[in-house]
Amino acid sequence: MLNKPVLCDAFFDSFDSSVRDVNESETLPPACYVSEEFFEFERRALFDHEWLCVGREAWAQRPGDYFTTAHAAEPIVVLRDNAGALRAFSNVCRHRGMLLAEAHGNTRNLLCQYHHWCYGLDGKLIGAPAMERAVGFDRTQVCLPEFKVETWLGFVFINFDKDALPLGPRAAALTAALENYEFAELEGEFPPPPTKFPWNWKVMMENNNDGYHANKLHAGPLHNIVPSHLSVFPQLPEDTACYFRWNGTEHQDAAFNPTRRALMPVFPKLTEKERNNFIFAQVPPTLSLVVMSDQITYMILSALSANEVAMTRGWLVAKGAMKSTMFQERLRIGQESIKSIVAQDLHVDGLIPNGLRSRFAPRGRYSWQEQAQREFNYWLVKRYKSAWKVMARPNG
Ligand code: FES
Ligand SMILES: [Fe+2]
Repeated sequence: MLNKPVLCDAFFDSFDSSVRDVNESETLPPACYVSEEFFEFERRALFDHEWLCVGREAWAQRPGDYFTTAHAAEPIVVLRDNAGALRAFSNVCRHRGMLLAEAHGNTRNLLCQYHHWCYGLDGKLIGAPAMERAVGFDRTQVCLPEFKVETWLGFVFINFDKDALPLGPRAAALTAALENYEFAELEGEFPPPPTKFPWNWKVMMENNNDGYHANKLHAGPLHNIVPSHLSVFPQLPEDTACYFRWNGTEHQDAAFNPTRRALMPVFPKLTEKERNNFIFAQVPPTLSLVVMSDQITYMILSALSANEVAMTRGWLVAKGAMKSTMFQERLRIGQESIKSIVAQDLHVDGLIPNGLRSRFAPRGRYSWQEQAQREFNYWLVKRYKSAWKVMARPNG
């Protein structure tokens, strides 16, 4: 089935049944999650034009600080230049394609370790040894491709599309919902390197997005603090770049650990309502947030192919909280506690592609508790359809 080409008008028309009211919608066609042809389409329809989260602004505070990442298999280096501006470049050397920077650190310039071509923090080639005989080679004309950068709530986003509209105005609903958490001020450690998983990026984002499975897959005292039936889905503007749900908790300042209560200092400006809710938010196609009273978990997804995604998982706490008594011990208790929950999610994520590759794979119906899946469909289908309209034209 999957060897047949999926991209045709009828396929895109079939998406209409996934963007009705949640109680009338069905899931997207299985090929959207497993077909390499469809993933190549997504690269052009989504990843070439959307704002892609690359990390936190705090990861590059001083001139010369840099960190590296990749989205849709494009290597990216993000750095703070000498004038203090945050910039993002292709991390591919203009000589023979070696990756320039690795991991993260501080540097005066980007030196390619292979043949020592050297780039300034503005992306310009400033040194290229023994190139004087290369006919027509003008060093001053060589520069790393640069990408648009936007910072939102302390997260850094890049965009490969020079004409992309800013993210901030279309993220206003979520920005308002998160105001009291003071995201830009939050602190955390540099996260561990990303982990690769053999499934589609949407399988993972939908799992992050799914409150329906909360007290089924994760049934038990550790996770039952956020029961599925306490999900509330806000009305969002048509052009929203992100979506979210509030999920009521069994008690105030609930948290995933044996005490079932926050172990870190609670964010100081939270209202009563906020202390009695988690917020699960998505900024597709790359960022998922789990927002609790004392801690934020962020997950940055990086799609690699139809069947591979890398994820960077990190945490944020209130300003100054990392200096609180026994912070590392409290952190470790929380991290140990969620391991069983994470393992359950990963187990499911790993089996879903087997189901979606089946000739019997469904286009299933949704529970009302899956409203956020329908919002994700809406975000996707709008973009899929407009890209297909352009590409399907004779010279598109
Ligand atoms: S590949 Fe970078 S200097 Fe040769
Ligand atoms: Fe889960």
